[in-house]
Amino acid sequence: MKKMWKVVAVVAVVALMASCLVACSGKDDSKLIMATNAEFPPFEYVTEKGLLGEFDGIDVAIAMEVASKMGKQLEISNMVFDSIIPSVVSGKADIGVAGMTVKPERLEQVDFSDTYWVAMQTIVVPENNTDITNVDALVGKTVGVVTGYTGDMAVSEVEGIKVNRYQKGADAIVDLKNGKVDAVVIDAPTAENFIKRNPELKGVSDDEFFGKEEYAIAVQKGNDDLLKAINATLAELKESGRLDEIAAEVAERLANE
Ligand code: ARG
Repeated sequence: MKKMWKVVAVVAVVALMASCLVACSGKDDSKLIMATNAEFPPFEYVTEKGLLGEFDGIDVAIAMEVASKMGKQLEISNMVFDSIIPSVVSGKADIGVAGMTVKPERLEQVDFSDTYWVAMQTIVVPENNTDITNVDALVGKTVGVVTGYTGDMAVSEVEGIKVNRYQKGADAIVDLKNGKVDAVVIDAPTAENFIKRNPELKGVSDDEFFGKEEYAIAVQKGNDDLLKAINATLAELKESGRLDEIAAEVAERLANE
């Protein structure tokens, strides 16, 4: 009888340890965890009924495809933009998908997949503004950006521009409409989305200053298997034309919001 209790105890301990392997490390192999900042339509945004729970956007569709090809369930972890890279570095998230531009300073911390989108920055100003025609014209003005975005990096390099940093693009746009900032610098796809909703705003480009940016998916350095799986899915989405379709479908859903 005593022996029997011993066996029960051993089985219980082993079971506890096994469940701890999953729960305590926070790693569950059936899940692919995507870190993002869902404040960036059309790439990721929160809506009533999204593709995955409340989340919708081009990046959400891409990541769902990556996960399903790997036989995994996508889980989205929504956070401020500046936390995305740290959470990929620490392994809390498997992938960072956030309309994220490949930049040398980011490549020091994470690896990037092949690129899947090309974008520029746009200077958003009031429709009736005539003096802001390029970045030079922003000197002496107050410009809204989102903390850590490439728009923040670019504008912060120019001496004489007063930079107001926001946690969300939408908040910068509110201050632009209130006249608290003279302009907002943000990625063109998101700028276009704001402008469509706010006819009192318009976009100004300065392609010479900003240059083109390419979006890619971030993974932990050296995670080559995951990178390969991502690149295979990206190639398939691009070649089949499915990526364009996804973008068109998202645009349509956004237009009906
Ligand atoms: N492309 C810009 C960057 O990499 C902005 C990305 C913002 N993305 C987001 N999901 N909030 O810095």
